[in-house]
Order: sequence, then structure tokens, then C-alpha cells
Amino acid sequence: IRKRFSMDLKDYIESIPGFPKEGIIFRDVTPILQNASAMRYCVDQLNDFVKSVGADVVIGPEARGFLFGVPVALENNVGFVPVRKPGKLPRETVSETYDLEYGQDELCVHADAILPGQKVVIIDDLLATGGTVEAIIKMVERMQASVTGVAFVIELDDLKGREKFKDIPVCALTHFE
Ligand code: PRP
Ligand code: ADE
Repeated sequence: IRKRFSMDLKDYIESIPGFPKEGIIFRDVTPILQNASAMRYCVDQLNDFVKSVGADVVIGPEARGFLFGVPVALENNVGFVPVRKPGKLPRETVSETYDLEYGQDELCVHADAILPGQKVVIIDDLLATGGTVEAIIKMVERMQASVTGVAFVIELDDLKGREKFKDIPVCALTHFE
């Protein structure tokens, strides 16, 4: 049995002003990944949320959504579906364009990766404007499945991303302005 512990996750998040553009403070989660206890803490907390809302499958966007989505899916005994940028997935895809805190892009998912009626939880490292998650919600709903929850390691509160999906439970392990 693994012992549960609490920790201040902010000790494992580096803040880099001016990256990748002036005016952005980049919140870097790589120190979490480098520390097994910090990683274990994140996976356990995200996993508790996924269990509480219920999931048949976990979905997460490249690249940083994979880092947390895959271990949480495994912990829940469910599969993981990768959301990727255009031109990366080899079979038929569903796609959606979206706005970022610093740009615009398009996301794709394999059309047969989510089945009608499935309960889907979205996991990513960080919630900024919510554009990424909003695009994933649209794709999941177009596949006639439902998003039961969205979970992040970090939420950037001032950008009010969670207002884009008011009816869906949101979990964030730590917050920055
Ligand atoms: C970052 C982050 C989230 C997204 C959040 O990914 O990992 O996926 O932005 O922003 P939003 O809430 O405004 O949509 P990015 O697009 O930089 O890709 P990366 O993970 O491949 O670096
Ligand atoms: N993705 C969008 N905004 C971000 C930020 N400020 N830090 C890290 N990743 C991000």
C-alpha cells in the first residue's frame, strides 16, 4: 500500500517570463516529471477526480497532455486516446480548430477512438484560455460521447478558461493568476 502525502506542487513548477513570447509567463511542469514523488502526487490526485466523475476513457492533447493522461488512464484501468496536431494520425480523423493563449491551431483525433455513449475525461497539464479543451469537447460530442470531467495540473485563473465549459466538473491541482 502506497502512503498518501500532501505537497506544495508549486515547488515543482518553474515560471519563465517572456517565453515563448513577451507578456506570457510560461509555467513549466518538467520539474514535476523529474521527481517521482511529485509525479505520484499528481497522478493520485487526478485519478481521484477521474474516479469521482467516472470515465470509460481518458483523452489528452499533445504533447503535455500525454504526460499526465497516460499514467492516470492506466491507474484507472481505462484506455487513453491521444489528440494530435494535423498530419500526425494515420487513419480517419475528426478535427477542430481552436485559439491558444499564444496563437491558433487545429486538433485531431482518430474517428473510431471514442465510441457513442462513452464517458470521457479530458486531462492536460494546464488550463489557459480553455480553447484546447473546448475543441476536444466539440470533437467528443461529435462522436456522440460525453465529457464527464476535465482535469489539469495547473489552472491560470485570470484567463477564465473554465467559463468555456460551465456545465462540466473541473479539477485543477494548483492555480496561478
Ligand atoms: C499548452 C498546454 C495546453 C494548452 C492550454 O499546449 O499544454 O494543452 O496550451 O492552452 P489553452 O487553455 O489556452 O488552450 P501547447 O499548445 O503549447 O502544446 P504543447 O503541449 O505541445 O507544448
Ligand atoms: N499554455 C498556454 N499558456 C501557457 C503558459 N502560460 N504556460 C505554460 N503552458 C501554457
